[in-house]
Amino acid sequence: MGEEGVIVVVREFDHEKDLLGVEDVERRCEVGSSGKVSLFTDLLGDPICRVRHSPAFLMLVAEMGTEEKEIVGMIRGCIKTVTCGKKLSRKGKNSHQNSAKPVPVYTKVAYILGLRVSPSHRRMGIGLKLVSRMEEWLIENGAEYSYIATDSDNLGSIRLFTYKCGYSKFRTPSILVNPVFAHRVSVSHRVNIIKLTVSDAECLYRRRFSTTEFFPRDIDSVLNNKLSLGTFLAVPVGFAWKGSDRFMSAPPESWAVISVWNCKDVFKLEIRGASSVKRMLAKTTRIVDRALPWLRLPSIPELFRPFGLHFLYGLGGEGPHAVKMMKALCWFAHNLAKERGCGVVATEVSSREPLRLGVPYWRTLSCDEDLWCIKRLGEDYSDGSVGDWTKSPPGLSIFVDPREF
Ligand SMILES: CC(C)(COP(=O)(O)OP(=O)(O)OC[C@H]1O[C@@H](n2cnc3c(N)ncnc32)[C@H](O)[C@@H]1OP(=O)(O)O)[C@@H](O)C(=O)NCCC(=O)NCCS
Repeated sequence: MGEEGVIVVVREFDHEKDLLGVEDVERRCEVGSSGKVSLFTDLLGDPICRVRHSPAFLMLVAEMGTEEKEIVGMIRGCIKTVTCGKKLSRKGKNSHQNSAKPVPVYTKVAYILGLRVSPSHRRMGIGLKLVSRMEEWLIENGAEYSYIATDSDNLGSIRLFTYKCGYSKFRTPSILVNPVFAHRVSVSHRVNIIKLTVSDAECLYRRRFSTTEFFPRDIDSVLNNKLSLGTFLAVPVGFAWKGSDRFMSAPPESWAVISVWNCKDVFKLEIRGASSVKRMLAKTTRIVDRALPWLRLPSIPELFRPFGLHFLYGLGGEGPHAVKMMKALCWFAHNLAKERGCGVVATEVSSREPLRLGVPYWRTLSCDEDLWCIKRLGEDYSDGSVGDWTKSPPGLSIFVDPREF
């Protein structure tokens, strides 16, 4: 029940019946509001777009009314298998003592996202009902943990999940956002950037990053997805690439890797509520940058109209110059985003990620603390060797799955 005597029905989303109602609620829900400026999302007619690429997903809607039915809320959830820790591999009969290497421990984790309740129907228990029903489905489908991400200043959402639903604060990665300028940015001449084949990329990620927290076991379906625009490796000029096996056995002193995901075809963002002075300032910087690109002046993109973005995922690297290599890759990705008409390039990294120093971003566009909260959903766990994941300390890095960004 919602308001006294009013029945709220929670059921699965039906594209034909519910699209208009869902879009209406989405339009009226501001997310990440700071002062009067808010970020709006246009899901381009596909409300399931941020979960549909995961192995299992569900969207629920909350409906009110008996004759005139009205959609008043919705929630999405998806389930996948990810790394929750690592252990030393068991030694085979003939192996040496020191040949044991860390291998990932996987768990089935659910991600809850896109929870929205119409502003006119809040504080009636609808959000809580949507979360509870979603969790029932997650448990039925074998999820061992569930997590959510929210702005660290979104009090309503944090209270709902921590006070009422039993989640605890878990990780605080940063979303780093860089504008796409009207000019191309030059990339260091000392760095060579190689586009890897999907199988080389998969091999590199599995060998080097599979013990990173949240690494998706189905990394191959991420890399093979048509939204993944490629994996790029930065190596010193002169280093000869001879495939991922050779690379792993004899890597250069420093290297870095990123993959690029095309969110532009999935959703558009728009900043609303900015003052006319700010809009005018942005427009002026853009006009100057377009007219005089050789000056390489940083300009503010058209963020006050719907704009698209590319998301950088799978950031990694090693060696004393890995940060410089990462910087080169990020500017390379900037130029790719410019060619493809994006407004910004975004990435999400652990607060302790050493390579974040190489990621260019504007503080005003970024979110320093994206709060992830987690909950253990049941009693029988496959993570025995790592214990309760919700209580584990954070690692240096985190793998942020681009499918749900
Ligand atoms: C967050 C949101 C989904 C909550 O929906 P809701 O239907 O109002 O939530 P409920 O009525 O089920 O609230 C359950 C509990 O959550 C907490 N809560 C919810 N909104 C709150 C708020 N604005 N301030 C403080 N606590 C709040 C309270 O503990 C509340 O219990 P109470 O009413 O008995 O005190 C809704 O405010 C919303 O759509 N916000 C915009 C989108 C958003 O931020 N989504 C979350 C992204 S993860």
